[in-house]
Amino acid sequence: MTTPDFSFTLAGQDGQARAGLIATAHGKVPTPTFMAVGTAGTVKAMTADAVRATGAKIVLGNTYHLMLRPTAERVARLGGLHKMMDWPGPILTDSGGFQIMSLAKLRKLEEKGVTFRSHIDGTPYELTPERSTEIQHLLDSTITMQLDECTKFPATHKEAMDSMELSIRWAKRSRDAFVKRPGYGQFGIMQGNVYEDLRRHSAAALVDLDFEGYAIGGLAVGEGQAVMFEVLDYCTDFLPAQKPRYLMGVGTPDDLLGAVARGVDMFDCVMPTRAGRTARAFTSNGIFNMRNARFQDDSRPLDENCTCLCCTRHTRAYLHHLFRCEEMLGPMLLTIHNLTYYQNVMQGARAAILNKEYDAYCADVRGNWQRGPD
Ligand code: GUN
Ligand code: ZN
Repeated sequence: MTTPDFSFTLAGQDGQARAGLIATAHGKVPTPTFMAVGTAGTVKAMTADAVRATGAKIVLGNTYHLMLRPTAERVARLGGLHKMMDWPGPILTDSGGFQIMSLAKLRKLEEKGVTFRSHIDGTPYELTPERSTEIQHLLDSTITMQLDECTKFPATHKEAMDSMELSIRWAKRSRDAFVKRPGYGQFGIMQGNVYEDLRRHSAAALVDLDFEGYAIGGLAVGEGQAVMFEVLDYCTDFLPAQKPRYLMGVGTPDDLLGAVARGVDMFDCVMPTRAGRTARAFTSNGIFNMRNARFQDDSRPLDENCTCLCCTRHTRAYLHHLFRCEEMLGPMLLTIHNLTYYQNVMQGARAAILNKEYDAYCADVRGNWQRGPD
């Protein structure tokens, strides 16, 4: 059997909202899709089987964390990230720049790349577009991301333009360093902050490099949902219809619904996993804090509409108890549920797009959030 080429097929469209299918060397991903974040080679608190059971089809890894520990060369010796973490499905890896800027010490950004010191032990490193791409190959990443600079917010037009132009030069270098293999892809990352002319320019330059997909970077950095949606309204128009579009680092279930309505196909965010570890539950009736005393005698399942292990086998009272006692099972169960909820929202969106009833679906999901836990 030959490995299929990396491809994206549109299966349906309702307004700007798209239902599609990404085919990769490691399996297929129906879109819209939410990628569970597995920063350091693990979706925190989850076995790979548990991640699969949430309905996740693709997970995200991070160049920055893995290059520090256990190092890209060691991951390669261990047979690659898929084998190391027992996830044979598709893996997308972020390129490192974004994480360096938020986590590393003594960062210095230059034309050639970024130099920084590890947040763990202060060891100096350099990350260039070429090295980031090489690291992602060593990890055996299914989808490699270009090295980019996520422009700060707020930024002046001049600051946003200089930063966006650097990201374009890095896109070219990343593309040149990318080794094409059947079923593998590389995505360029559009920058340009909240400036329409810069977003247009960035998209056009990336499209010239003919990436397998395009990410929209530099959003959800403090501009708020209304501004993010305004920017998305034009960003997706600048991208080719026949390639997947990935909105990086987003977001709440409501952000996802709104971004899908504007033509986005892929998402990643730490929100469902991080919230799950801190007792916050995303449910079809809104967000609950499981530490709240209102749940201490509540023998109902967390979410009546959910078929995850947490909701079919346990009560709200038990979850409340686990978090009150700081038991590890609390974060495990709530991460299972939150990721399942995100997957269900995306699967529902896909079905609704195919049935051309996406607006009604969003209205229904949003209406239920208003109801609260009772
Ligand atoms: N994650 C969230 N936003 C960004 C971005 O702009 N660039 C990269 N590389 N990762 C991100
Ligand atoms: Zn559940």
